[in-house]
Amino acid sequence: MLFLALFLPLYFTIIRKPSSSAASSSPSSTATSTTSTASPTSTGAPVATTGGDGSVIILSDGTNFTYHNPFGGYWVQDPTNPYNSSARAQSFTPALNESWVYSKDQIRGVNLGGWLVLQPYIVPALFEKYQNVTSSAGLPGGQVNDEWTLSVAMRNDTSDGGGIQQIEEHYRTFITEQDFAEIAGAGLNWIRLPIPYWAIETWPGEPFLAKTSWNYVLLAFHWARKYGLRIFLELHTVPGSQNGFDDSGRLGTVNFLSGYMGIANAQRTMDYIRYIVEFISQEEYEDVVPMFGILDEPLLEVIGRDQLTRFYLQVHDMIRGITGIGKGPYIVIHDSFQGTASWADFLPGSDRIVLDTHPSVLHAGVPTSDFSLPLSYWPTVGCIAYSNNQSQYDFGVTVSGEFSAAVNDCGKWVLGIGQNSTSADCDVWDDWPNWTQQRKDGVETFVMSQMDSMALPGYFYWTWKIGNSSVTGKVEAPFWSYKLGLDNGWIPSDPREALGTCSSLEFPQDLPWNGTYQVWQTGGAGAGTIAATAVAAFSQYPPPSLSNVNGVNPTQLPVYTATGVVPTLSTPTFASATVTGGDGWADAADTSRAAVQIAGCVYPNAWGPAVGSTAVVCGGSTAPGTALSSISATST
Ligand SMILES: *[C@@H]1O[C@H](CO)[C@@H](O)[C@H](O)[C@H]1NC(C)=O
Ligand SMILES: *[C@@H]1O[C@H](CO)[C@@H](O)[C@H](O)[C@H]1NC(C)=O
Ligand SMILES: *[C@@H]1O[C@H](CO)[C@@H](O)[C@H](O)[C@H]1NC(C)=O
Ligand SMILES: *[C@@H]1O[C@H](CO)[C@@H](O)[C@H](O)[C@H]1NC(C)=O
Ligand SMILES: *[C@@H]1O[C@H](CO)[C@@H](O)[C@H](O)[C@H]1NC(C)=O
Ligand SMILES: *[C@@H]1O[C@H](CO)[C@@H](O)[C@H](O)[C@H]1NC(C)=O
Ligand SMILES: *[C@@H]1O[C@H](CO)[C@@H](O)[C@H](O)[C@H]1NC(C)=O
Ligand SMILES: *[C@@H]1O[C@H](CO)[C@@H](O)[C@H](O)[C@H]1NC(C)=O
Ligand SMILES: *[C@@H]1O[C@H](CO)[C@@H](O)[C@H](O)[C@H]1NC(C)=O
Ligand SMILES: *[C@@H]1O[C@H](CO)[C@@H](O)[C@H](O)[C@H]1NC(C)=O
Repeated sequence: MLFLALFLPLYFTIIRKPSSSAASSSPSSTATSTTSTASPTSTGAPVATTGGDGSVIILSDGTNFTYHNPFGGYWVQDPTNPYNSSARAQSFTPALNESWVYSKDQIRGVNLGGWLVLQPYIVPALFEKYQNVTSSAGLPGGQVNDEWTLSVAMRNDTSDGGGIQQIEEHYRTFITEQDFAEIAGAGLNWIRLPIPYWAIETWPGEPFLAKTSWNYVLLAFHWARKYGLRIFLELHTVPGSQNGFDDSGRLGTVNFLSGYMGIANAQRTMDYIRYIVEFISQEEYEDVVPMFGILDEPLLEVIGRDQLTRFYLQVHDMIRGITGIGKGPYIVIHDSFQGTASWADFLPGSDRIVLDTHPSVLHAGVPTSDFSLPLSYWPTVGCIAYSNNQSQYDFGVTVSGEFSAAVNDCGKWVLGIGQNSTSADCDVWDDWPNWTQQRKDGVETFVMSQMDSMALPGYFYWTWKIGNSSVTGKVEAPFWSYKLGLDNGWIPSDPREALGTCSSLEFPQDLPWNGTYQVWQTGGAGAGTIAATAVAAFSQYPPPSLSNVNGVNPTQLPVYTATGVVPTLSTPTFASATVTGGDGWADAADTSRAAVQIAGCVYPNAWGPAVGSTAVVCGGSTAPGTALSSISATST
């Protein structure tokens, strides 16, 4: 069937509210290029539009693509009601205006990694361009190897095609509306969307492109609604870094809830979590963004379980203060590579906390990372080690937020720029255009074994797309691209085909979980009343001790004061005069101000003080000017 879409222009544009602070980006005309711009024809009577398999989507620049969805999904774009949530990704997936039942409906998701948070192996071309900028150029670390150093190098690049706006060009082109349509057409129904804190703002000295990616977050919400996809939004980077990985923005040390700026960085992080929750808890977004991950992969070995738990309790209470109990997004925490079992009975009685685990042969917790094992070995890992069955009972809703086809660490920059893979035969593994059918089948079986054992409540592949290398002109990390596998035969075109893989491989003992949650675990009776023992154990905040502070009492560490102006997040505007984009703030009673520096205080570097430096700083409960004994870098 060919359904010809009448796509009305001027449906959705993004403007910045006049009150927003002057930041790097003006209203982003590029962000709207795939939706629409003003057109005389927009004055005609609006018509609701919808279409299924074979319908043509016409973009505002006049180009079009055909919507392929063999699963009975349909898109909806309703000019009279831009919050119309009747789209459905597939016939077997609840429409957005229907409820999601976590014990029954299977999340088949994919990440949009490398889009709004850059990572070298996902978007190598952006980093390849600056590999010849050397330490003499004054880059921290001497090399472009994360988004911080890339941003420094781009800002310094005044040549044609240089500049920090290259990053917005990437936002505009790497993921477009067509990707959302293709994700639904691939039988997937959820998207995990990593975003950086600099979508909201940057502070002086932080080189990232500020505020711009928020416009693309709004587009993602818009496109997800149109194609009936749900979003697990996820704060992937926080000030100071929660893990020191390159995808936290800055490769290096952990300075979130650890180190001299640990408390201050956590204060800023808490604010960013609050602003995002205020936005997505507006009733217009609740169906599109049912999950919010508050912190990606915090390094528990450095920060400490006790410290993280205290922070999570603070965040839980802050969020539920905004949303109320049983309402607003599920709150997602990561297992910090400790395995799901170690999180059993976490804050019993909390209101809808989800545990996110990232099974990967590159991550801790996998029985072996002996990459010389044959391809046929890996499904045993997929079926057994990656099953989240037990955690559904012991914790509650437990999802796999990142998994992939990787059976080894091959692939350009998969371990980071400058790190070499440890596996043998990477030249063969990276040469995916030449993979034999046998190799493709083996990789596909590994993928399907994981999909099967994680089927309920579900999984998110990492990641939808890997960009081409500018050096070779092709994808150099093939295991990590869902789309590449789909197009080339090692990802199933219908992910439901994965069901039964493990039993067909004779692992019948690890059928996917098929139970029910306790009522409080999905927001029913009992939710929101955390067990008194847990409250007693974890409510003191700041934590009584912190790592990497040479024994300084955390109450003496630098803090910010909550007296600043809350930054404004841009909201959508619509052609229809009767529809508003909301003010971005769900809870009018939340009038807390923003954490800012205390006047007169000197703060150490938020990403870790230089080795041996001493600084006079303000301590939390002390008068401005109190000297910390000595600030020497002991961070891990
Ligand atoms: C949403 O759009 C669909 C498809 O055009 C239409 O049938 C439905 O009436 C609309 N629903 C609402 C609540 O506006
Ligand atoms: C889609 O684009 C193609 C190529 O430009 C064009 O031939 C076709 O007419 C367009 N289809 C619609 C429905 O606009
Ligand atoms: C969802 O939207 C469709 C189309 O507007 C409507 O028919 C249906 O009743 C809605 N479902 C719910 C649960 O509101
Ligand atoms: C970087 O330097 C190497 C060695 O001098 C050279 O071969 C390569 O072409 C340079 N790359 C770019 C992108 O300039
Ligand atoms: C800045 O640009 C100059 C010349 O354009 C170059 O020599 C230098 O390496 C660059 N520095 C950084 C940090 O990119
Ligand atoms: C990676 O391999 C290259 C080429 O063999 C070598 O020059 C480099 O030192 C290696 N890097 C590391 C971190 O081992
Ligand atoms: C496949 O391998 C052959 C032989 O190694 C090589 O010449 C060719 O370029 C490869 N094909 C592709 C598409 O990479
Ligand atoms: C990536 O390279 C492939 C060839 O390997 C090409 O078909 C494709 O269009 C390229 N993708 C982009 C976004 O340039
Ligand atoms: C899941 O865990 C429960 C509780 O331990 C157990 O009874 C059940 O057999 C397990 N199911 C599967 C399919 O592994
Ligand atoms: C779950 O699966 C087990 C093993 O197949 C089966 O015995 C049990 O009845 C199932 N439970 C539900 C609630 O479907």
